[in-house]
Amino acid sequence: MTIDLTTTYLGLDLAHPVVPSASPLTADIDHIHALVAAGAPAVVLPSLFEEQIEHDAMAIDHSLEVGADGFGESAEGFFPELDDYNTGPDDYLELIRRAKSETSIPVIGSLNGVSNGGWIRYAQTLADQGVDALELNIYRVAADPGRTGADVEKDYLDLVERLSARVDIPVAVKIGPYFSSLADMAQRFEAAGAAALVIFNRFYQPDIDLETLGVTPNLVLSSPVELRLVLRWLAILYGRVGCDLAATSGVHSGEDAVKALLAGATVVMSASALLAHGPGRLTELRDGLARWLDDHGYDSVAQARGSLSYQAVPDPGVFERVGYMKTLTSYVPTW
Ligand SMILES: Cc1cc2nc3c(=O)[nH]c(=O)nc-3n(C[C@H](O)[C@H](O)[C@H](O)COP(=O)(O)O)c2cc1C
Repeated sequence: MTIDLTTTYLGLDLAHPVVPSASPLTADIDHIHALVAAGAPAVVLPSLFEEQIEHDAMAIDHSLEVGADGFGESAEGFFPELDDYNTGPDDYLELIRRAKSETSIPVIGSLNGVSNGGWIRYAQTLADQGVDALELNIYRVAADPGRTGADVEKDYLDLVERLSARVDIPVAVKIGPYFSSLADMAQRFEAAGAAALVIFNRFYQPDIDLETLGVTPNLVLSSPVELRLVLRWLAILYGRVGCDLAATSGVHSGEDAVKALLAGATVVMSASALLAHGPGRLTELRDGLARWLDDHGYDSVAQARGSLSYQAVPDPGVFERVGYMKTLTSYVPTW
C-alpha cells in the first residue's frame, strides 16, 4: 500500500491527517508518548482556560452559569475540577516543554476563553515556550438576552483578531455550529486571522438529577452520528474559505475519517474514540483511512480531499434544504 498520507495543517508538515484533539489524553506526557508510539502526527494539548490564567486577578463565581456565560466543560466546582484536569499555567508550560523536547511531532497549544482581556497575552507565552501553533477554543453560551447575535459575533471576531495579532505562529479557531450564517462567519473568522477552523466544539449539556434536584454536568463521549453535522459544514465550507478545516466530533473509525476527508477536512481529530479505546485506536483510524483510499484507487489524501464537497457533487442541494426534504420523505416506519 503506497498511499501518500502526508498533510499540511496550519503550515505544519504532518505524516498523516489523523490528529489527537485536546483531551485528558494529551494532558499527560506519558500518554503523549503513547500517542506518538501509535503514530500521532501532531498533538493538540488540552486547553488552558482564561479563568486559570486570570485566577489571581479575578473573583470567580463557582456556579454552573458564570454571569451571562456558562462554561460547560468544567461545570460546577470550577477550579477544583480544572485543577484535576490541568493544573494551571506553570504545569502547562512544563507539559509543552516536555512534549517539545521529548517528541519530534508538532505540538499545538490550546487556549480556551471568551473575553477580550489580559489573558490573551498568554498566547505569546505559549509561543515562547515552543508550541508550533495555537488552537483558540471559544466556548461561549450566549445567555444574555440583552446582547444580539451581532454583538456576540463581534466579540468572537475581536478576540480572534487580537489574539492572532499577538503571535507569529498560526492560530486555529475551534467554534460551535450555532451561528445564523456559519458560512459568512467562517469567512470573517478567516479575515480576522484564523489559519484554520476546527469544527465543531461539543457543547456539554447539563442534566437535571431528579433525586437531588440538582444540575449535573456529566460528560458523555461522542458517537459517530455527531459527525454528520460536521460533514455538512466541511462540505459547504471547503474551497470557499482559504483556511484549513479540522474535523472534530464523531470521528470514531477509519471510515469516519474518510468521510470527513471527502467532505473537505484538512485533518480529522479524535478525542472520544481515543479516550474510550486507548491511544492504539489512532493507528486503527490512520490505517483504516489508508486502506479505504487504497481500495478505492486513490493515491493520496490530497486527491481525495473535498471530492464530495459542496462544490464537487453534482447536486449540492443534498447539503441544504433538498437533503432535508429527501431525508424526511425517505423514512419508512418499521411498525
Ligand atoms: C474529557 C474531554 C476533555 C476535553 N477537553 C478539551 C479541552 O481542554 N479543550 C478543547 O478544545 N476541547 C476539549 N475536548 C473536546 C475534544 O477535543 C473534541 O473536540 C470533542 O470531544 C469532539 O471530538 P470527539 O468526538 O472525537 O470526542 C474535550 C473532550 C473530552 C471528551
